Amino acid sequence: MARTIIVSNRLPVKVQRDSNGDLQYKSSEGGLATGLGSIYKDGDNVWVGWPGLYFKDKNKAQKAEVTEKLTSENMDPVYLSESEIKLFYEGFSNETLWPTFHYFNQYALYKKSYYDAYKKVNQKFCDAVLELANPDDTIWIHDYQLMLVPDMIRQKLPDASIGFFLHIPFPSFEVFRLLPWRRELLDGVLGSDLVGFHTYDDMRHFLSAVSRICFIGNQQGQITKDRRTIMIDSFPIGIDYDKYANSSAAPSTLSKEVKFRTSMGDQKLMLSIDRLDYSKGIAARLEIFDIFLSKYPEYQNKISLIMVVVPSRDTVEKYKNLKEEVDLLVGRINGKYGSMNWTPIHYFYRSFPLDDLSAFYRMADVALVTPMRDGMNLVCKEYVASKLDKKGVLILSEMAGASKELSEALIVNPNDKHQVVDAIYKALTMPVEEQEKHMAFMQKAIKKFDIHHWVKLFLDRLNSVKEQQKVMG
Ligand code: UDP
Ligand code: G6P
Repeated sequence: MARTIIVSNRLPVKVQRDSNGDLQYKSSEGGLATGLGSIYKDGDNVWVGWPGLYFKDKNKAQKAEVTEKLTSENMDPVYLSESEIKLFYEGFSNETLWPTFHYFNQYALYKKSYYDAYKKVNQKFCDAVLELANPDDTIWIHDYQLMLVPDMIRQKLPDASIGFFLHIPFPSFEVFRLLPWRRELLDGVLGSDLVGFHTYDDMRHFLSAVSRICFIGNQQGQITKDRRTIMIDSFPIGIDYDKYANSSAAPSTLSKEVKFRTSMGDQKLMLSIDRLDYSKGIAARLEIFDIFLSKYPEYQNKISLIMVVVPSRDTVEKYKNLKEEVDLLVGRINGKYGSMNWTPIHYFYRSFPLDDLSAFYRMADVALVTPMRDGMNLVCKEYVASKLDKKGVLILSEMAGASKELSEALIVNPNDKHQVVDAIYKALTMPVEEQEKHMAFMQKAIKKFDIHHWVKLFLDRLNSVKEQQKVMG
């Protein structure tokens, strides 16, 4: 039977060692893993990726145990050495590509040793796919860590059906051109038959880079390279709507909500949930909350911000610095406004299981989602799906891909702090009927364009590109 082989750097399950050195299996955070995590087990599909830890030679038995466990759950682990983690994962992926693609190019490091490791690890992923793939399988590669893989596979399997999806923004040509390896990265991606982005703008930026760097033009998103047709388009990713709606209605979520509510008392709650990342605007959001409390002092003692920051890439310097900055800001604001019976910010630096997250979503009068840049942002969609009574207001940055779909949210520019402050006030004073109207509208869209719809749309499109290639010979 034809399968889909999903390939991404991170598997939907991450393996960690606890303080005794024993292995623990946890769900991975991040939009790619939570999005596709619901569907990859359909049929005979398999997911190729890194389980998130490395093994020394003496740990052969543990490694075999991990391989066996993951294989039994349709996953095919690719292991990275300590130096590959440093140079490929922390280095080229997260100190070169991530900052550049999120318009933080002043943070980007351009090191040949990083790129060499990136190439080597991309080849490792390619080899893992070649081991597995049958001629009629579909190979679907995800995200910026693996941009060279499509062409590496194409060189070995000229007729393979290969899709590539980028889960982060694709920057404008003027920013992308800063990368010394811009040509290689584009050639790598163009090994695919179908290339997908979250938004029309990302797609447009990619096509402009292809035109100016590879000198290949397009016709309505279709380009021809080495006599092969390649389609480029936007496919905004959705969430597993039913999973979030059902979890929001589950008894375990309701009892958590009661427990949390009781401990917080009668006050308004505002929520933010992100991985620790400078692209998420966490520090700016704290400054905004500070300004809000001083501009609208009547809300002191009457509102708390629940801020969940999920540890991420904390071995990378910019992330470490951000953690320190956030810790300081939270301490400063709580110290400035807090009282014996009121804590302005409830700050959690850890991840939570789904029923806790659902309880937070249910409780929050306002969700404050204000990234500086974000490919899509799934947290805002999860908030909307969890609001079964339709009460609550979403404040959403125009720099998140999701803002293109969720126009009923209060859309803000995260750099305009006073605009966001006033949006918070507007959200807190919005009449209930208006909240319900906006929420119903957004729920309808998110329910219709859910993760199942997204997967089908992309894979059907890939099939039709392959059909078209056959017709054109
Ligand atoms: N998330 C999680 N555990 C947590 C907090 C968040 O699994 O404790 C999930 C969240 O539900 C969402 C994902 O992490 O599905 C974050 O995805 P998003 O697209 O918002 O941002 P990304 O991390 O991909 O940049
Ligand atoms: C974003 C990226 C994913 C990545 C995730 C978590 O969602 O698009 O590719 O897996 O962040 O980051 P990490 O570095 O922990 O895999």
